[in-house]
Amino acid sequence: MPAKVSIKDLTMDYMLKDSVVTALKDINLDIKDGEFLCVVGLSGCGKTTLLNILGGFFPHTEGEILLDGKPITDAVRMNRGVVFQEYALFPWRTALKNVEFGLEMKGMEPKLREETAKKYIELVHLEKFAHLYSHNLSGGMKQRVAVARAYAYEPEFLLMDEPFGALDAQTRENLQEMTIEVWQQTHKTIFYVTHNLGEAVYLADRIIVLAGQPGVIHKEIRVDLPRPRDPFDPKVIELERQTTEAVRGN
Ligand SMILES: Nc1ncnc2c1ncn2[C@@H]1O[C@H](COP(=O)(O)OP(=O)(O)OP(=O)(O)O)[C@@H](O)[C@H]1O
Ligand SMILES: [Mg+2]
Repeated sequence: MPAKVSIKDLTMDYMLKDSVVTALKDINLDIKDGEFLCVVGLSGCGKTTLLNILGGFFPHTEGEILLDGKPITDAVRMNRGVVFQEYALFPWRTALKNVEFGLEMKGMEPKLREETAKKYIELVHLEKFAHLYSHNLSGGMKQRVAVARAYAYEPEFLLMDEPFGALDAQTRENLQEMTIEVWQQTHKTIFYVTHNLGEAVYLADRIIVLAGQPGVIHKEIRVDLPRPRDPFDPKVIELERQTTEAVRGN
């Protein structure tokens, strides 16, 4: 199958006032349509930078990114949804209105917009809290709203940056299960950054290990295991061990 997104010889330099920080160097990566890709690596290795470049938030320095075989330009943009490393809800909107945001941008008419947003609010089990403003929601609820908002937009590509990083273990597990359920129902391509290697093995079709500064692709680990995965399955534990070793640089 041809790649949905193809990253070729990508390098990213941040230009500071009197120095240059090379955050990524010679990244080559093909992402298949519908693939669940997890990206791991030590703090500062360039995970968020790569996600931001794929999101089109800033230009890269060298190399190219192809979408369905065509270079991404201002005219050809990826239809993507994003869940950021920090909560990024609009405080002046309720949970439901936050989910509606992307649909408004798309020009969807109000009735259909509300119906669609409600469907995604239900998918993340927040129907009782839909009318609350974000400061009245817990951290886990805010993240669920952010996930619902990203999915509701019906992007072809989802970018998620440590979406459940700040949550307790149980809430995180519930949201991981929910993410897999929604992914299986919607067949989106997902680029998911995490520090939690157990989470990466639980979620991914393939794990990309970035390492170094500048970050390079150190290793790729395939997770060919049926879902739902059991964290205590010896095969899962073995893959987590391999991923841990890879992150350590082995
Ligand atoms: N806006 C910026 N300007 C200059 N340098 C930056 C900027 N953003 C990131 N960097 C640098 O680029 C490198 C990669 O940062 P990035 O945020 O991509 O790492 P990360 O892998 O997401 O780390 P973490 O796991 O801590 O979130 C770091 O050396 C960082 O200092
Ligand atoms: Mg980051």
